[in-house]
Amino acid sequence: MEDRPPLRSYGRTKARALKPRQAGLVEALLPHLALPEEGAVDLEAVFPLSREGAELSPLAGRSWPAGPDEGLAVSPDGASFPSPVASRHPLPSRGEGAVCAAPLILEIGFGGGEHLVAQAAALPDARFIGVEPFLNGVASCLRHIEESGVQNVRLHHGDARDVIARLPDACLDLCYILFPDPWPKTRHHKRRLIQREFLADLARVLKPGAEVRFATDWAHYAEWTLELFTRDVRFAWLAERAADWREPWPGHVPTRYEMKRLGDCAPVWLRFVRA
Ligand SMILES: C[S@@+](CC[C@H](N)C(=O)[O-])C[C@H]1O[C@@H](n2cnc3c(N)ncnc32)[C@H](O)[C@@H]1O
Repeated sequence: MEDRPPLRSYGRTKARALKPRQAGLVEALLPHLALPEEGAVDLEAVFPLSREGAELSPLAGRSWPAGPDEGLAVSPDGASFPSPVASRHPLPSRGEGAVCAAPLILEIGFGGGEHLVAQAAALPDARFIGVEPFLNGVASCLRHIEESGVQNVRLHHGDARDVIARLPDACLDLCYILFPDPWPKTRHHKRRLIQREFLADLARVLKPGAEVRFATDWAHYAEWTLELFTRDVRFAWLAERAADWREPWPGHVPTRYEMKRLGDCAPVWLRFVRA
């Protein structure tokens, strides 16, 4: 059978023209943070470690021109990160000889990157990969990275399914899929990111015991996702009481899409564990 690429699960990849500062970040900063465009993703090359075990950031020692709106970067939940870039969060050393890999966290469809960067600031010792095909979102994320000074984020401008296919087996500790495009019309359901084949691909790259955190405010997409995950023997739903799916997990940072309340129900929060 012909091996067709999956249908696009996203809408537009570019909206308004980038502002000069955003375009500058895409040109100057993105190449330092971007995953390789093709081939297997070598995580040790993407997140290099120094001899002491501390991560070497591609941003270390660089200074980026201060933008007009530089100051305190404020996340959607009101937390502020110090800026400018000079006050980056230092990555703690893991001590001599302790070269165990830091947790690896993937965010699929990070939108403007507020959640991704807030999580990366909260967990400076973890490694984050964010994937987003919408260029304006990537540019916005770069601005958050620059303003917050986080050093533990790498990005891919494109389709997360391409990245997952290039990741090594059992490398991920956590995967966020927050408010994915809902594709509410029946004829568009095949465009939804959550499909049986996608779960198989995702299962391959998750470590045993790793978690998938999914949220949507579209009732049919919540049911769809729950059904696909619970039918897949490689996953188990981590819910014991109604509050587990009605309320976000601890430490959640509201996303831009979540705050728009565009769906047809209150947000549904689903956590699955890889068996
Ligand atoms: C409705 S938006 C939500 C954005 C963000 N998570 C939020 O909550 O604000 C869904 C995002 O997923 C992205 N997306 C859709 N399909 C994707 C894919 N295959 N890989 C990566 N991102 C994808 C879209 O470009 C879009 O930015």
